[in-house]
Amino acid sequence: MTKSYNIAVIGGDGTGPEVAREGVKVLGAAADKFGFKLNFEDFDYGGERYLKTGEVLPENASEELRKFDAIYLGAIGHPDVKPGILEKGILLRLRFELDQYINLRPVKLFPGVACPLKDKGPEHIDYVVVRENTGDLYSGAGGFTLKGTPNETAIQTSMYTRFQVDRCLKYAFEYTKKRNKKKTLALCGKTNVLTFVYDLWDRAFHEMGEKEYSDIRRDYYHVDATCMWMIKNPEWFDVIVTGNMFGDIITDLGAMTQGGMGIAAGGNINPEGVSMFEPIGGSAPKYTGKNVINPLAAICAGQMMLDTLGEEKAAKAIEASVMNVTANKIKDLGAGRMGYSTTEVGDLVAEGL
Ligand code: IPM
Ligand code: MN
Repeated sequence: MTKSYNIAVIGGDGTGPEVAREGVKVLGAAADKFGFKLNFEDFDYGGERYLKTGEVLPENASEELRKFDAIYLGAIGHPDVKPGILEKGILLRLRFELDQYINLRPVKLFPGVACPLKDKGPEHIDYVVVRENTGDLYSGAGGFTLKGTPNETAIQTSMYTRFQVDRCLKYAFEYTKKRNKKKTLALCGKTNVLTFVYDLWDRAFHEMGEKEYSDIRRDYYHVDATCMWMIKNPEWFDVIVTGNMFGDIITDLGAMTQGGMGIAAGGNINPEGVSMFEPIGGSAPKYTGKNVINPLAAICAGQMMLDTLGEEKAAKAIEASVMNVTANKIKDLGAGRMGYSTTEVGDLVAEGL
């Protein structure tokens, strides 16, 4: 019987719907070629809907989305909506409610892509960041006292439970094993200052590694040093595991080393539930409707989605086709500088399958 997957598509704001459309195009072509079916259903969550209705996300949104096999997201962020409302109300809320406790972010330099690092090429930049995606400073714990007065205080707390840390580490070790490249997992922390939270991470990391993954080499780097080595010796890395806040920051740095926001993709993964895939870049409102934005990041997010759904062959084919486009077709990853339109790049990748 033909395998069939139900995919919820949230195009979102700005150029989100345009890049998601190209992703859907490529995914559809891959499904035809590799003999499975994808049923897409659109959801109008985003800034426009919020400005019209005053509602960020319907009460039952995650309940609805839980019925799907995966969620495919364009971008969230609207220039007429105050920062934080949509990000917290849609993106973070879905990550938390669907318990997508892993944020998987590959840092891979594709052939033909200009790298800002001197003397580094695709053979040097190919690793994956496993960012914990539910805890840390993102937990929302904190508050103000005497807000608006000269004696105001603000506090925001980084929190981790052993359970959160262990399940993330488990995923990271398993991922490193399955990836089967350098068999090296690096913990990125700050044990010299954050002597509670990263002490917990450090102990849990070595306990699990020693007991269950003796064949995987364990490295440790402080977060500041991680940033340094990501620039100086990115070839050292295979898989990096880290908390939510450091993961947010180092993956933007990583994205720049792989050619920027036009190519960087990520997956918000619940290994036991519904996962959500997105290009890391924002909604780039100034390019909306111009057909100039680069859809490759969204296409790569689609590729990660197929990989997670178990359609590994189709995922590999999409990656190969994207690599062919970066190596032989487009001139530059930047919006308006590709030498092709958004829809043409989608066509090139789909045809290249
Ligand atoms: C990301 C983004 C989000 C985050 C924002 C938009 C809430 O920066 O996906 O990395 O901080 O996680
Ligand atoms: Mn970020």
